[in-house]
Amino acid sequence: MQKFYIKTKVCSGDDAMQVLGMFKGKNAVIFTDAFMVKSGAADRIAGYLSQCRSVKIFDEIKPDPPIELIASGMAFLLEADADVVVALGGGSSIDAAKATILMAKRSGAKERIKLVAIPTTSGTGSEVTDFAVITDTQKGIKYPLVDDELLPDIAIMDPTLVVSAPPRITADTGFDVITHALEAYISTKASDYSDALAEKALELAFVYLPKAYMDGSDLVAREKMHTASCLAGMAFNAVSLGINHGIAHQLGAKFHIPHGRANAMLLPYVMRYNADLNANFGAKSETRASVRLAHIAQRIGLCGVDTNALVLSLVRHLNYMLKMTDTPITLKDAGVTKEAYEAEKPAIIEAALKDACTATNPRPVTPEDVDAILSNLARW
Ligand SMILES: NC(=O)c1ccc[n+]([C@@H]2O[C@H](COP(=O)([O-])OP(=O)(O)OC[C@H]3O[C@@H](n4cnc5c(N)ncnc54)[C@H](O)[C@@H]3O)[C@@H](O)[C@H]2O)c1
Ligand SMILES: [Fe+2]
Repeated sequence: MQKFYIKTKVCSGDDAMQVLGMFKGKNAVIFTDAFMVKSGAADRIAGYLSQCRSVKIFDEIKPDPPIELIASGMAFLLEADADVVVALGGGSSIDAAKATILMAKRSGAKERIKLVAIPTTSGTGSEVTDFAVITDTQKGIKYPLVDDELLPDIAIMDPTLVVSAPPRITADTGFDVITHALEAYISTKASDYSDALAEKALELAFVYLPKAYMDGSDLVAREKMHTASCLAGMAFNAVSLGINHGIAHQLGAKFHIPHGRANAMLLPYVMRYNADLNANFGAKSETRASVRLAHIAQRIGLCGVDTNALVLSLVRHLNYMLKMTDTPITLKDAGVTKEAYEAEKPAIIEAALKDACTATNPRPVTPEDVDAILSNLARW
């Protein structure tokens, strides 16, 4: 049986923040990072929570939240006797809040805590997913936790909060959106429901990511990218992802390459691999993934004489976008040494194959396949 549902109430529009006024007499905790406090965004959100009995700010979130952070977040949450957690920030803040609440519930310390997610990047879609990605720093592994309890109750989509994101973060997170939608579209579980969401997300992201990157103050582009991120989140929440994320999680955990950037670097190679382009060249056979990727290429206005040519156009377009956004295309460009890569490669391959996202990849993936995909980035 396949199930499709969206539990999270998604609020958008100029007055979306007003929804925070519903928490009368509650204890609220804002989970965020130092930048959001410094920029004044955390205080702005606290202002909308003025009906609460108390509002406290936990501002210790770091990118790729480690397990230890979840423990200190839980201590803060219990000390504040929180009924509501407002996660303000990128995927790291939202995921840390989700994992902390789950831990508090599972330990029996708290039965009910409402979660409001307010994304400040247009990337992870975490505001509507039942995923939270946590890092085990000692083992150098990122774990996607998957649990219905991780779904936020409310998502507030306010594109003005994303305007401060510099071009580098805009590009990295934007490629995360494109990766979510493409992987969901060719997932072994893809359905008409998820396809509708992924197609729209891709139509928006391919047009508006370049605009948001070029001019971060373009509020229309910011709003469209925020919508694309949320739609892609809904799509992959229903049908999961693939090997692109399976490998990207390991590159993030081992080398601290930002999540979206790791996805971006892998994406042209993984799409080529999934479409089995090399094997199909000159042959009549098409794969389900290649037909689907060709369909996306057409939807975003690319040309090609047949399925494989269309997929190649899509791959070339992704490479063009990487170039135009100055995104690193090798591990060397991303700051990884040859020695560190060689030392970690076996563990990366092993963990990528075990990653929960890899199970729905359209091609069954072997260790040799992951090695071959990685070798495209391993140039010094
Ligand atoms: N839960 C999910 O469904 C899901 C999906 C994909 C990725 N993830 C995870 O999310 C994390 C990545 O999240 P992310 O890409 O949103 O980045 P992030 O939350 O790690 O933030 C990256 C940097 O951007 C800064 N930042 C965020 N918003 C900003 C703004 N508006 N202006 C200026 N700076 C801003 C942060 O302070 C931080 O330094 C990774 O751990 C990844 O594995 C989760
Ligand atoms: Fe992602």
